[in-house]
Amino acid sequence: MCGIVGYIGVKEKKEILLDGLQELEYRGYDSAGIAIIENSQLKHFKAVGKLENLREKTKNYSSSGFGVSIGHTRWATHGKPTELNAHPHLGEFSFVVHNGIIENYQELKEELESDGINFLSQTDTETIVHLFEKYYNKSKEPFISFTNTINRLQGAYALLLITEAEPDVIFFAKNGSPMLIGFNKDEIYFASSDTPIIGKATEVYYLEDGEYGYAKNGEVTLFNKNGEKGFVKKALTTNKAMAQKDGFRFFMEKEIYEQSQVINDTMIGRVLDKEIDFEELNSDFFNGISNIKICACGTSYHSALAGSYLLERVAKIPCQVEIASEFRYKEPLLQKNTLFITISQSGETADTLEALKMAKRAGLRSLSVCNVDNSSIVRESDRAILTRAGIEKGVASTKAFATQTMVLWLLTLYIAQIKKTISKEELDSELKAIRKTPKALIVTDKLHDKIHRLSKRYLHGHGFFFIGRDLFFPLALEGALKLKEISYLHAEGYPAGEMKHGPIALADSELFTIALMPKSLHYEKIKSNVEELSARDATILAISPEPFELSDDFIQTHYKSHPMLEFFEMMVITQLLALEISIRLGNDVDMPRNLAKSVTVE
Ligand code: AGP
Repeated sequence: MCGIVGYIGVKEKKEILLDGLQELEYRGYDSAGIAIIENSQLKHFKAVGKLENLREKTKNYSSSGFGVSIGHTRWATHGKPTELNAHPHLGEFSFVVHNGIIENYQELKEELESDGINFLSQTDTETIVHLFEKYYNKSKEPFISFTNTINRLQGAYALLLITEAEPDVIFFAKNGSPMLIGFNKDEIYFASSDTPIIGKATEVYYLEDGEYGYAKNGEVTLFNKNGEKGFVKKALTTNKAMAQKDGFRFFMEKEIYEQSQVINDTMIGRVLDKEIDFEELNSDFFNGISNIKICACGTSYHSALAGSYLLERVAKIPCQVEIASEFRYKEPLLQKNTLFITISQSGETADTLEALKMAKRAGLRSLSVCNVDNSSIVRESDRAILTRAGIEKGVASTKAFATQTMVLWLLTLYIAQIKKTISKEELDSELKAIRKTPKALIVTDKLHDKIHRLSKRYLHGHGFFFIGRDLFFPLALEGALKLKEISYLHAEGYPAGEMKHGPIALADSELFTIALMPKSLHYEKIKSNVEELSARDATILAISPEPFELSDDFIQTHYKSHPMLEFFEMMVITQLLALEISIRLGNDVDMPRNLAKSVTVE
């Protein structure tokens, strides 16, 4: 996710902005920039890569006197990480920084280009500053022009705009992406989260969706759709470490809670009214493709497996999934009519990257599903679809897995549209389910408290089986991996139907079975598998929308209309279970022993 900072006052602004952006590095970025207006002079600097590059560019500059200033770290969603695509984006006399995705930017861009505006960047953000200036050039009213501009925006945004037309004001607007305002006497700060202003501001106001306004002369004037409104400042925390985690105990916990929001970002511009679209793809890309091979490691391998069930069932295209470290040395038979998909959060996993190179040497077309633009795997692939999960700090992957799975669900429907293997009614039903996904990912206090309480019973035993069928087998694998990697307890994911072919020999009261029992997919089958285990005194935690009397613990889920909604809801439960068990064991949830966030070696 991008990071935003802003400041109005008499202090030196460059350092305030750069230090503030430094505090937002944890959000992940690939370029950065600042813009300052003082004494009616516009100054701006941008740099690709880390903030040191921007510090280097600005080392001979320092501001003085009263002025307004904005800064930004960019996590690429539209357009590669380049200086031209870095924020702030410049019009003729104004600058804007933006976090989020403007869904209707193409339409706005076409309108502005037809007015003769030349765009410098590939970003959606640049439309904002040109639209503002278009309105200003007509009305000569800055705030009315700003209001007219944000009224045209659809999608998620947190934005700051400064302009020579009113050089002592910062205009702001918030909808869907986070932003707050900090206060200290007559100084005013803006930031995406509170870490950049801790130690600088003493009070804070967290903007609500739909709020906008301007900061001037040490005052903030706030509006929403009903007009001007008051607001209550609150004391700002002084604990930076806690603040970076937004008050959560671990980044992993924060990232589990973020899934509902980031999955929205994954969907923006792709889930349209009546169809799925990918601006990264077109139907020609699939010409001559008759089967798909997906290659990945770890959690990404699990999302690949889940995607393969969808691709075969809905897009009717044969799909094989490979573990990259195996694929590299098995002397695979590769055919040119195969689309080779790699899945990777980091985009730097050595085994996956080498597997991709092997496929390319064999002449296969390649597509990557990745969370880091401009990463090695993205650069090596013919096409790339970004998951837009934002930086994932926790070594144990959560939101990356959720967004990868969502991208594969969307890709399945996209291919099904092209191959005409899905009816309009079926597609409408899938779109309806997709739109419910953010809600299915919400973590309620009630659920988290229940999992916290029951986790105390699972701190020993001689191991865990996570069992599921069909789509829920990959989820069982993922649930087992989550538990293993942060609790260090042994856990295996297993196809429920396979238990009787050996593993059931382990069944006794010390064997913990986490049973994924969706109502919408083979319920009776999974139920009988779990009954077999219960009859042998295994300790069972059943996760299902249907009460299951034979379990020792039971977590009731809500969704039962669509397998993928059940999948995402159960995914959150398995993530929280691993988290709570690990916390009880006193482990470092974010940095588990022996693990790295990105395995860039064999
Ligand atoms: C996930 O919890 C693990 N940290 C690990 O399995 C990870 O998924 C794997 O190393 C692949 O990483 P990638 O997605 O960055 O390629």
